[in-house]
Amino acid sequence: MKIFIDTANIEMIEEINSWGILDGVTTNPSLIAKEKTDLKTCVKRISEIVDGPISAEAISMTAPEMIKEGRELSKIHDNINVKLPMCVEALKATKVLSSEGIDVNMTLIFSPHQALLASKAGARFVSPFVGRLDDIGQSGSEALAQIVGAFRNYDTGTEIIAASIRHPMHVLEAALLGADIATIPYDILKKMVSHPKTDEGIRSFLADYEKSKK
Ligand code: G3P
Repeated sequence: MKIFIDTANIEMIEEINSWGILDGVTTNPSLIAKEKTDLKTCVKRISEIVDGPISAEAISMTAPEMIKEGRELSKIHDNINVKLPMCVEALKATKVLSSEGIDVNMTLIFSPHQALLASKAGARFVSPFVGRLDDIGQSGSEALAQIVGAFRNYDTGTEIIAASIRHPMHVLEAALLGADIATIPYDILKKMVSHPKTDEGIRSFLADYEKSKK
């Protein structure tokens, strides 16, 4: 499974990229707003750090405007894909943008039906929001399983990004289900790397090494 980071914070992206495990980056307007920057400056900077897909979300709400905005965003760097929110206008825009070779990440996906339509329109990525489904008492992993299962039957050319990841178990579920990508917040990546028994083991190996020198 590919690992993306779900943030617009440059320091976090630089750190996780330095681990050698980062395949791409997703941003959204809320993440950009937190960094007090603008979308274009931010994704341009990210494209200088990470060699992989970078999602930049359009804020237009009609197909013609989405197409115009998507074309502009895609010019920032070859690795930029245009994130569009699932709706009829976004399907229309996806059809046009994908036919021009511009990758679309259809976001705010909450059902397999939405994912199938996005893929059919030519989306390069679909982003089911696992955590936000759990938030309202529906199973995010069940929706993800249905999307993975349905896509497995066809050569869709669309990759599934497990998004709205809230804890390490969401990452594990995404991997076990066969999601192509998980886009993971920084703090969860930090949690994934550590285990109390690893820390304990390192401490005891170092202590034994110090003893052996005496
Ligand atoms: O980037 C989209 C998605 O991952 C948002 O996550 O935690 O705001 O539901 P969250």
